[in-house]
Amino acid sequence: MSEKSKKKRSSYISAGESRRIVHFNRKVMRKLEKERADANKDEKLYITQMKNPDNVVEFDNVCTYFFTDVGTVKAVDGISFEIPRCSTVGVVGESGCGKSVTSLSLMQLLQRPSGQTVGGEIRFNLGDGRAYNIVNTPTAKMREIRGNRVSMIFQEPMTSLNPVFRIGDQVNEVLELHHPEMTKDQIRERTLEMLEMVGIANKEGVYKMYPHELSGGMRQRVMIAIALACSPELIIADEPTTALDVTIQAQILDLLRELKDKINSSIMLITHDLGVVANMADYVVVMYAGRIIERGTAEDIFHHPAHPYTIGLMKSKPVVGKKVESLYNIEGSVPNPVNMPNYCYFKDRCEQCVDKCAGAYPPVIRISDTHYVSCYRYYDTGEVGEYPRSVDVEELLR
Ligand SMILES: Nc1ncnc2c1ncn2[C@@H]1O[C@H](COP(=O)(O)OP(=O)(O)O)[C@@H](O)[C@H]1O
Ligand SMILES: [Mg+2]
Repeated sequence: MSEKSKKKRSSYISAGESRRIVHFNRKVMRKLEKERADANKDEKLYITQMKNPDNVVEFDNVCTYFFTDVGTVKAVDGISFEIPRCSTVGVVGESGCGKSVTSLSLMQLLQRPSGQTVGGEIRFNLGDGRAYNIVNTPTAKMREIRGNRVSMIFQEPMTSLNPVFRIGDQVNEVLELHHPEMTKDQIRERTLEMLEMVGIANKEGVYKMYPHELSGGMRQRVMIAIALACSPELIIADEPTTALDVTIQAQILDLLRELKDKINSSIMLITHDLGVVANMADYVVVMYAGRIIERGTAEDIFHHPAHPYTIGLMKSKPVVGKKVESLYNIEGSVPNPVNMPNYCYFKDRCEQCVDKCAGAYPPVIRISDTHYVSCYRYYDTGEVGEYPRSVDVEELLR
């Protein structure tokens, strides 16, 4: 069989198989939605406790799947990490590795019913000794959290701002919604204060402008003002500078860094750009094909990368003042998300395989107090922890 027809076959689905998938998806989505509705009625099912009260959020073996017509896409499959109070956690990885799905799971903004968090816990610290398990939290309770305690800055500010309302009104709206006790004057005052804080010099003028009258960088500043308006405990910034040009990128990053010290909130910074993370993050989580392959402090990841993939990423980063013939490139591609292998996902691209790599997906191995890696090369030298637990979707119907 030629290479091409082999490739075709691997993604080929017969009519019978396709019918089976659609039938299965319908059953599974109905069941999951019903379970969600039931969980809403009982507080015990979503009130829980933090493992460590100094964390704002703890992800604990979270599995978020999409039930699509070509099969189940395991977009995020058994990831665990935490976001400590007042710190910046950078989530890096190439496009499609599940970064946005991780943040959408935390906000419960997945495209339902096809997108579902089917396993694990996402614990959000309420600050009074209790925590919500976001996976089961009812929508009404989520509304109190979104925008107020957790807010989000997206990649493209023009699509997040409403083109027919003035900037001032859009910032006001967030405050009105979450602080019904504030008077009109107080709200206006606070909005102007926020605009000033994000470095908009002409705040009175911008207050009356429409989004199209502002440049991309200014719009992103307004988005940051909106995100910060209610002093949230966590800000999720999903590729906040990807749509901006390089000089503006630097300004926005400076702004975020400066604000971070002022506002005492944590930032979950999602990006495919290692430079951005190196500049901003205290902790770094590296994702690959829906799983975390390495995490640690910024120092661990940038100066002592352990996973062959992270090492490859570092090598493929251009360095100012260093002359190279050509940049390093990691051969091969990410496996098909519908049909993941049951060994290490990076094995087929890895240049440093050991015997164990042919076995089960590697466990999390602790190689220092802060540094964790999922790679068999450290099996004998590190402290071997848990294996990521995938959810068997057939089991969901039992
Ligand atoms: N609504 C959806 N339906 C089906 N698959 C999706 C959906 N959203 C995301 N995915 C899949 O989930 C995986 C992770 O996507 P995403 O988190 O957006 O990646 P990124 O790391 O670039 O943010 C991708 O393989 C993508 O195809
Ligand atoms: Mg994304």
